[in-house]
Amino acid sequence: MKVLIIGSGGREHALAWRINQSPNLTRLWVAAGNAGTAGLAENLNIRSNEVDGLVTAAKEIGADLVVVGPEAPLALGLADRLDELHIPVFGPSQAAAQIEASKGFALELMRGAGVPCPVFASVRDEANAHAYIKSHPGPLVVKADGLAAGKGVLLCNDSEQALAAVKLCMSDRAFGEAGDTVVLEEYLSGPEVSVFAFCDGEHLSSLVAACDYKRLEDGNLGPNTGGMGSFAQPDFWTPELAAQVEQTIMLPVLRAMAERGSPYKGVLYAGLMLTAAGPKVLEFNCRLGDPETQVVIPLLASDPLELMLACAEGTLDKFQVRWETKNYVGIVMVSGGYPDKYETGFEISGLDEDGLEDTMVFQAGTEFGASGKPVSAGGRVLTVVGGGDSIESARERAYARLEHISFEGAKWRRDISSAANQGAAQATG
Ligand code: AMP
Ligand code: GLY
Repeated sequence: MKVLIIGSGGREHALAWRINQSPNLTRLWVAAGNAGTAGLAENLNIRSNEVDGLVTAAKEIGADLVVVGPEAPLALGLADRLDELHIPVFGPSQAAAQIEASKGFALELMRGAGVPCPVFASVRDEANAHAYIKSHPGPLVVKADGLAAGKGVLLCNDSEQALAAVKLCMSDRAFGEAGDTVVLEEYLSGPEVSVFAFCDGEHLSSLVAACDYKRLEDGNLGPNTGGMGSFAQPDFWTPELAAQVEQTIMLPVLRAMAERGSPYKGVLYAGLMLTAAGPKVLEFNCRLGDPETQVVIPLLASDPLELMLACAEGTLDKFQVRWETKNYVGIVMVSGGYPDKYETGFEISGLDEDGLEDTMVFQAGTEFGASGKPVSAGGRVLTVVGGGDSIESARERAYARLEHISFEGAKWRRDISSAANQGAAQATG
């Protein structure tokens, strides 16, 4: 199979690494890729939001499968365009991608299907928002409805903060048109977990779960980031919990999407909070998570191309997805200053020392510098992954490998998957 992967982060490097092991692969391209994917595939200089360019590339290559990493091209209708050309695509249609692209859509869908989620209201003008806040004193979560690059969620302890958050979205337009509609949600608490299901529109795979760490500093302090680390699978993710999530969340959503005429194909990602009243959905994403993919994809025992093609072609019921029972831990190395201003262009050393058993380095913001060596080229630079029979041994391997890698200003968390922090990866929001 000739395969084109869309995206340029650690998630896409991990996908390229796993797909590259498939006996079904004949040739691999990544658009736009990074210095890591360059060793496994041919990088194409086309960005994820250049839908026309991506469609043209898929045609020219004669792609047998296009694997879409990030949400932006899906929300722009890339899968629909490829579908018209009969090019199999792993990722949902524009209509189905609404599950991530509009929080109000996802919440209405859940309410209709009886899926557990926070009590909420979706409002289009500030007066209605004020009325709702007045009638719901106490903590609230204010969210920009549209895609806001992970920044449009404002946790508010009281009405005053909620009013300020609404103003930020609606009159200050801090998130542009993404905040023209605002969702007001009940403030939930509990450990968080990311759950992934491969879907073909009608059927879904067995679920796989991971935790990620959004805050910059140890102890879940500091600003939110695109992710500082991850581990899979958490010890609290029991077969009973998986069955409950499948029956009460994933299957009802899949059915509701099909009933609306937008069957869901690709990966359905549920961000859950395990509340005292059971698991509730905080958000859906229409793609794999980053940095969760870097610790989940190594667990995939089945052939990745057969699996993704089965999702695209609606034959997942004939395919048994198998997951390894081991554990992986991933630590993200970021540029000094991230998530605010940071410098790039620093040479990265130690990448080739893969003498350490069961470790991988997935690259994200990297490119080749003038000397031909990889240099940092973004905020999130690498995910260093270790595997093992326990989270503890996986963690030790990941940190041991990380010791060999350096670039100027590099920063990482030292408590990813530490005992005190497991299952509480983001409990502090
Ligand atoms: P989201 O992008 O919707 O997943 O929100 C980002 C983060 O905000 C989540 O990972 C949670 O930590 C927090 N969050 C979102 N919604 C709620 C909620 N209703 N109650 C408490 N925390 C929330
Ligand atoms: N790890 C969170 C996300 O990918 O959205």
